[in-house]
Amino acid sequence: MRHLIAPSVLSADFANLQRDVEMINSSEADWFHVDIMDGVFVPNISFGFPVMEAIKKYAAKPLDVHLMIANPDNYIERFAASGADSITVHYEACIHLHKTIQSIHKAGVKAAVALNPHTPVALLTDILADLDMVLIMSVNPGFGGQAFIPNTLLKIRKLRDMAALVNPGLLIEVDGGVSLQNTAELLNAGADVLVAGNAIFAAPSPLEMITSMKQVSASSSHSI
Ligand code: DX5
Ligand code: ZN
Repeated sequence: MRHLIAPSVLSADFANLQRDVEMINSSEADWFHVDIMDGVFVPNISFGFPVMEAIKKYAAKPLDVHLMIANPDNYIERFAASGADSITVHYEACIHLHKTIQSIHKAGVKAAVALNPHTPVALLTDILADLDMVLIMSVNPGFGGQAFIPNTLLKIRKLRDMAALVNPGLLIEVDGGVSLQNTAELLNAGADVLVAGNAIFAAPSPLEMITSMKQVSASSSHSI
């Protein structure tokens, strides 16, 4: 499968949200990555349902909703109703993770679990078969524009090996500090979905940056 690019709307110009959503519609990007932060699970607040519904109104591609919130179980149905195509909850925020994943599937959307940089992939051993995707955080969640944590590459490789046994179709998504410079090494490690905020929206041409990231292939020597 060719890798997917999911621009993070967190880095969009919120005063021109419709324009930026339409830019992504017209690009080679695959999904919209939508970051929901509550100021409790992470030290930042992003936006909630009204903004997400405004994105959904114009988005012509799936919404990949990343919940960086405490007690995500309370909001799963509402996010599904607001247009989420996939919902990612944090391992660190879910006491009854298996039940949470079941609730996401019951709401009719794809289910994913995110791991903070310090959380070992081995903790997913007994839930992996139930997941559509795992999101490996390559920065501490809360803010765009941070530096990529190199240990992420090792985590991706370990997870790919684990998934080969029980869930070969599992998607591995990487989020934080992703750029054209590390795209090839992320793909070589086994990533399927690359989230990028700053690398796309701060580029002179976001459209061309998306095309460039999409064109990198796993065996390419693009990485530096
Ligand atoms: C960080 C968010 C990311 C963020 C990525 O907590 O989950 O999705 O927008 O931004 P960049 O690509 O700028 O690191
Ligand atoms: Zn995210």
